[in-house]
Amino acid sequence: MTEMRPKQGKSVFIRTYGCQMNVYDSERMADLLKPIGYEAASAPEDADLVILNTCHIREKAAEKVYSELGRLKKAKARRAEAGGDMTIAVAGCVAQAEGAEISARAPVVDMVIGPQAYHRLPELLARDARSRGAVLETDFAVEEKFDRLADREADGPAAFVTVQEGCDKFCTFCVVPYTRGAEVSRPVDAIVGEARALAAQGVKEITLLGQNVNAWAGAAPAGDTSGASGRDDWKLGELCRHLAKIGGIERIRFTTSHPRDMDDGLIAALGEEPKLMPYLHLPVQAGSDGVLKAMNRGHTAEHYVRLIEKIRAARPDIAISGDFIVGFPGETNEDFEETLALVEAVGYASAYSFKYSRRPGTPGAAMRQQVAEAEKDDRLARLQALLERQRTAFNAAQIGRVLPVLFEKPGRHPGQLVGRSPYLQSVHAKAPDSMLGTIAPVRIEDVTPNALAGALIDEGEDAA
Ligand code: 5AD
Ligand code: SF4
Repeated sequence: MTEMRPKQGKSVFIRTYGCQMNVYDSERMADLLKPIGYEAASAPEDADLVILNTCHIREKAAEKVYSELGRLKKAKARRAEAGGDMTIAVAGCVAQAEGAEISARAPVVDMVIGPQAYHRLPELLARDARSRGAVLETDFAVEEKFDRLADREADGPAAFVTVQEGCDKFCTFCVVPYTRGAEVSRPVDAIVGEARALAAQGVKEITLLGQNVNAWAGAAPAGDTSGASGRDDWKLGELCRHLAKIGGIERIRFTTSHPRDMDDGLIAALGEEPKLMPYLHLPVQAGSDGVLKAMNRGHTAEHYVRLIEKIRAARPDIAISGDFIVGFPGETNEDFEETLALVEAVGYASAYSFKYSRRPGTPGAAMRQQVAEAEKDDRLARLQALLERQRTAFNAAQIGRVLPVLFEKPGRHPGQLVGRSPYLQSVHAKAPDSMLGTIAPVRIEDVTPNALAGALIDEGEDAA
C-alpha cells in the first residue's frame, strides 16, 4: 500500500488547454492534490508541481504544449540553481496519444498521465522519486476515475458535472475516440450525489459534460416510478428531468451533443423542463452530404436541418450553437457553399469554426485530395464572417428584453457584476456583491462585441 503523508507547503500550477472536459479535469486534479498539501501557485515558476493538461484535437493545440515545455525547462533550471525543484507532468489527450514519446522529445517531463489516469496522481507523487519518468497511459478505467471524484468543492454558482466520457462515433477527422476511449456513462446515483453536493454549496447552474453527452444512458434509480425498467433505460432527457428536482439547482445545460443521439425524449425535455436552458451546442461540421459522409458523421445536411426545426418546434426560443470544419479532404468550393447555405438556413447564436487539421492515426490524415492551406484560410474567413453576422444579430435582438441573469463574478468596473443569460451570453450589470450567486432579471440595454450590458429591474417594475 502506498503511504500518503500530507506534504506541507507544496504548490501546484495547472495549465489547461482545450475543451471544457479538460477544464473540469484540471479542477478535479486540484481537488485531489489539496488533501496531500498542494496549494495553487499563481505562476508556473513558483510551483513545485506543474501540470499541463493538454489537448490533441488540432495540431496547433498539441504544438503549444511543446513550446510551453521549452519555457518550463528554463524555469525548472532556474529553480534548481536556487536549490529548489520542479516536477513537470503532462496530462490529458497529448499524454494519451503520444505517451512515452513526450519524454523522448521533452526529457524535462517527469510524468505522463492519460485523461483517465489522473486520479492516481496523489499516488504517483507519494511514490515521488520512483515515479519520475512514469507513463500512465490510460487503460480507460473511466469508472474508477469517476468513483474517485465524489468529493469536490464548488468555486462559484455555476459548475460542470461529468456524466459521460469517450466517443464511439469515429468521425474521420477526430482523435477523441483514440484519446478518450469508448463511450462510458456515469451512473445516475453518482451524478445526483455530485449535483446535490454542489447545490448544498450554493451552486445554481450545472452543465452536464461529455464528449457525446446525449449518448449518456443509465439505469433508473431504484424505486423510480417513471415506468422505465431494466438496464440503461434512462437517457439524457430523463436524467435532466431528475436533476431538475434537486432543490437549489435552477439551471441545467449539457454539452456536447451529437445530432445522431438527439432523441425525442431529450427534445421533449427541452420543451417541457423550464430548468433546461434554451441553448444547444449541436455541431454539424459541414453542410455537404458528400463531406458529411467522408467525415463519417452518419447523417445528412437535411437530417440536421429537420432536427433543428423539430427542436425549435419544442422550444421556440432555443439558441443554436455549432462547430464547423472547413477544408476537409475532398471538400470542393461547391461543398463549401453548401456549408454556408446550411448556416443561413439554421441561424446560429454562436459557433466555433476551424480549418481541417490532419491528425496522425485518423482516417482523414491518410485521405488524398487534401485542401490547400490558402483555400482553407479563404473558406474559414468567409464562414466566420457569416457566423459573426449571425451572432451579432442574435445579441442585438436581446436589446430591450428582460433576461434572468445568474451573477457569477465581479465585473471589470467597481459596482458591476457579470453573469450569464439563459442563452449563455455574458451580461454586465450594476449590482451589489450581495447578488453574486443569485439569478435576477436584467433589462438588456446594449451589446458590446463579446457581451451584453443591462440594468437590474427595479423592485416592483414589471419584468414582463
Ligand atoms: N481538424 C479541425 N477541427 C477539428 N475538430 C475536431 N477534430 C478536428 C480536426 N482534425 C473540431 C470539430 C469538433 C471540435 C471540438 O473540434 O469541429 O467539433
Ligand atoms: Fe470526435 Fe466525432 Fe466523437 Fe465528436 S462525435 S468526439 S467529433 S469522433
